[in-house]
Amino acid sequence: MTTPALTAERSTPVVAIVGGGQLARMLGQAALSLGIPIRLLAEEPHGSAAQAVAQTTVGDYHDLQTLRQLTDGCDVLTFDHEHVPISHLAALADDGVACRPGPHALVHAQDKGVMRSRMDELDVPSPRHALVHDAAAVTSFADTVGGFPVVLKTTRGGYDGKGVWFVGTENECAAAFETAARSGVHILAEEKVDFRRELAALVARSPSGQAAAYPVAESVQKGGVCHEVVVPAPGLPERLALEAQQIALRVAGALDVTGILAVELFETRDPSTLRRAQESASSGEPGRILVNELAMRPHNSGHWSMDGAVTGQFENHLRAVLDLPLGSPQARQPWTVMVNILGSEQSDVGSMYDGFAHVFARDPRLKVHLYGKQVRPGRKIGHVTAYGDDLDDVLERARHAAEWFRGDLGQESE
Ligand SMILES: Nc1ncnc2c1ncn2[C@@H]1O[C@H](COP(=O)(O)OP(=O)(O)OP(=O)(O)O)[C@@H](O)[C@H]1O
Ligand SMILES: [Mg+2]
Repeated sequence: MTTPALTAERSTPVVAIVGGGQLARMLGQAALSLGIPIRLLAEEPHGSAAQAVAQTTVGDYHDLQTLRQLTDGCDVLTFDHEHVPISHLAALADDGVACRPGPHALVHAQDKGVMRSRMDELDVPSPRHALVHDAAAVTSFADTVGGFPVVLKTTRGGYDGKGVWFVGTENECAAAFETAARSGVHILAEEKVDFRRELAALVARSPSGQAAAYPVAESVQKGGVCHEVVVPAPGLPERLALEAQQIALRVAGALDVTGILAVELFETRDPSTLRRAQESASSGEPGRILVNELAMRPHNSGHWSMDGAVTGQFENHLRAVLDLPLGSPQARQPWTVMVNILGSEQSDVGSMYDGFAHVFARDPRLKVHLYGKQVRPGRKIGHVTAYGDDLDDVLERARHAAEWFRGDLGQESE
């Protein structure tokens, strides 16, 4: 029997990736393992992904001509960020380029206002929200959700907590509106959810509709930046884990997402913050799930899966955008913990390498990923992953390694 995919006349498809950060770098690693050629459009010649992808061109993704050159001869276009103008993607789609995810889906990861209205249409439980055009409108909104504080967000362009303000009075709204005016975007007001913790539900979905749901993760943010991820979310009732996965699968299907969809969630115990959340018939527990935001690309809350799942999110993103059968998203061990390595005043590129001797000697099962980025305080420069069957042990191992790389442990005394 012949296998069509292996016959000489069929060539391996080429994947174009826009964006040269660590997500593209790790997509590149997965592509290399599968022998899938990729072509990268990066912002700078020696950035994180450019170091790892031979076929890199440097250019501006705001320029349609540059995108056309990138995709010429490629089979699929995908992304390490969601900032490519939707009109350009629509033009490329009209040219016949397979944009995955497509512009009709990606707009929901680009614009939090569009995302919120769509979630309402789909009856997906979300924090109460409104688009607001001035400080007085924020006060009116606050009156409808039990008063200040409320959360203000730029509808577009935010990341790592930039573009998010917690405001306690009408007088504190100025910074948000100034930022929005400067960048020509709007402000979305949301009730401040009294959440118990933040969760993330990741799914991979292919154009033909196959989908795979990863175990629900707990993600711990510090100052708006993802700090630590624990899988599965400890103590999450089965009912809520299923609900989170079902929300992610439903959103992926309704929005026709292709590739990875990460749904950032709040787990709340306060029923007053609920909007259209369904009462569970089977359980008396008051916990609820609300959607915070969507990302349509591999996501920091899924980095654990590179080492901790049967199929990592980067490989499944590639499989999905190529419409190949998806791999199992199952965890390999009862517990997996990923901790980000953030740059600090104490750390530099050299001290990252010096850290290997200590952390590898201390923990032969630890996995370390460094992104080849210049170290700057607060910048994500890598992550570590530990897994095993004892959560406290796994947490301690992963935290110790990340702190060591950050230079927080007084290495000179050990
Ligand atoms: N309505 C809310 N109530 C309470 N906390 C919130 C709310 N919205 C956001 N937050 C907090 O602010 C953080 C950042 O918000 P959000 O995820 O919307 O912004 P972002 O900068 O786009 O994030 P990302 O880096 O994930 O793209 C959240 O992870 C959460 O900790
Ligand atoms: Mg977020």
